Amino acid sequence: CGIVGVVGSSNTVEVLLNGLEKLEYRGYDSAGICVAGQDGETTLVKSVGRIAELRNKVGADVTGTTGIGHTRWATHGVPSENNAHPHTVEGGRFTLVHNGVIENFEEIKADYLSDVNFIGQTDTEVAVQLINHLAISEKLSAKEALRRALEIIKGSYAFALMDITEPEVVYVAKNKSPLLIGLGEEFNVICSDAMAMISETKTFLEIIDGEIVTVKADGVTIETQTGETVERAPYEAQIDAADMEKGTYAHYMLKEIDEQPAVMRRLVQEYTNASGELEVDEEITSKLNNSDRVYIVACGTSWHAGWVGKKLIENLTATPVEVHVASEFAYDMPIISEKPFFIFISQSGETADSRQVLVKVNELGYDSMTLTNVAGSTLSREAQTTMLLHAGPEIAVASTKAYTAQIGALAILAKVAGVVNGNENAVAFDLVHELGLVANAMEVLVNQKEIIADLAQEKLSTTRNAFYIGRGLDYFVSMEAALKLKEISYIQAEGFAAGELKHGTIALIEEGTPVIGLITEEVMGSHTRGNLKEVESRGADTLVISMEGLEKEGDNIILPKINTLLTPLVSVIPVQLLAYYASLQRGLDVDKPRNLAKSVTVE
Ligand code: G6P
Repeated sequence: CGIVGVVGSSNTVEVLLNGLEKLEYRGYDSAGICVAGQDGETTLVKSVGRIAELRNKVGADVTGTTGIGHTRWATHGVPSENNAHPHTVEGGRFTLVHNGVIENFEEIKADYLSDVNFIGQTDTEVAVQLINHLAISEKLSAKEALRRALEIIKGSYAFALMDITEPEVVYVAKNKSPLLIGLGEEFNVICSDAMAMISETKTFLEIIDGEIVTVKADGVTIETQTGETVERAPYEAQIDAADMEKGTYAHYMLKEIDEQPAVMRRLVQEYTNASGELEVDEEITSKLNNSDRVYIVACGTSWHAGWVGKKLIENLTATPVEVHVASEFAYDMPIISEKPFFIFISQSGETADSRQVLVKVNELGYDSMTLTNVAGSTLSREAQTTMLLHAGPEIAVASTKAYTAQIGALAILAKVAGVVNGNENAVAFDLVHELGLVANAMEVLVNQKEIIADLAQEKLSTTRNAFYIGRGLDYFVSMEAALKLKEISYIQAEGFAAGELKHGTIALIEEGTPVIGLITEEVMGSHTRGNLKEVESRGADTLVISMEGLEKEGDNIILPKINTLLTPLVSVIPVQLLAYYASLQRGLDVDKPRNLAKSVTVE
């Protein structure tokens, strides 16, 4: 979910709606705003669906100088107007928006709110009712009631609270969920992500978990839970508003696919020092080299990049690597080696599942690094070290350029750490040159859109399911390829280790089932060809993506030849495009697929 707020603006409704549009990547099943004028009159508007629908509903009449807004990704309760934020209480004194999950909301209901009639099913309604209850029963001001409520509430939250009796103030607090204050001239704003307010201000103020912040037009006061005032210097956000536009592209996803060659080149530049050599923060390479085992923790596409990272790090540093899904690792930790080094991979740097692991890793005192696209994000701030992806904002929900940037950055890390250690493979690996070839190969492939669109039409336009198969690195890319297809075309797809398919899953192959084989390595590739034959003889409609030098007659897409360790960077391009066209041809919303959010800030 995403939160915005503004105090002291003459253009409150526009600032809120524009901000929410920028935050739609955090969820888009329902949305709402609450706006107050100086006279204390408030207007609350909510709608199911996208921000565009909220915008229509708000119309031109609503005005005010203070407001809060929210775009939702449903956790407790279906997407509906009742469950949409902001939430308010009878009489409308308090209005609240919330991002996160309140774990003890059932207990709070039972202990404090047994005589309240709830209109929806959300934990947020419980929070605003609790604040109201405490304000009345203990005769507290809004700020005091919020402070008391925070003592009772357990879980993750970012809150923005309005009180009708103080129409020129918004109170703000957070725990585990991201929230920032943006500083303007005679107005101030609140947002889950600086991107949402970058057209209002570039100056932002960080909030620490547990603080209570009073936002007024002419100033912002930060207090600790115990009421001491905190002074904090603001920072300038490094975001170029132009990067966030889609220009002539119909979809962000296609723009982001096309940006990948440039991202590869930028990555090399960013990690090259004055003498033309690859360089990574020494603290990171020494932590990696001092460790006896690397633990990669991530979710979704970032987890898939982690598998490729394992191969790169093991090959170039000889340190063993484990790859874990964050949500599993957090509550079912494996035995950890004596000197572990944790690498968190997260495009957004905000994923709650990954953060949950980082909190535990910090408690245990282990070394850590976050590999992220967002400087200053929660995971970046909380890990000991950070490597940035330099991919530019990724807006489409389905991740493309962040995946390849993650792999590129992990290759750079592995190479530099390996060279420091004198690893022969690393010393012999001319990564700058190889990544240059990768960028060129990517360019060749993004220019084959018509061929790939036709293949999507031919193989995927009516199918209900599909398989990607491969071995080794091709297996890891198969998993990512299947995820892309599922996310945006809703075709049920599986990425399978080619040799394993016959041990059960082959039962799903019917006449015409699409099976797409990835072949970028000679020996394993020839076995994958055997597996393709097995499914063909059971009726499958196969499509082969193979690397130059390994191609056979009839293969459908030929990848330019590049270094064996780096093949995922190019083999993923056609599968991203296949997913894009499959979605487009089915008339679906490519950039904002159903049920998903780009940044999932709940566990
Ligand atoms: C969400 C997105 C996925 C993404 C995953 C991890 O589920 O829909 O596309 O891969 O989160 O996100 P992160 O920002 O941590 O890489």
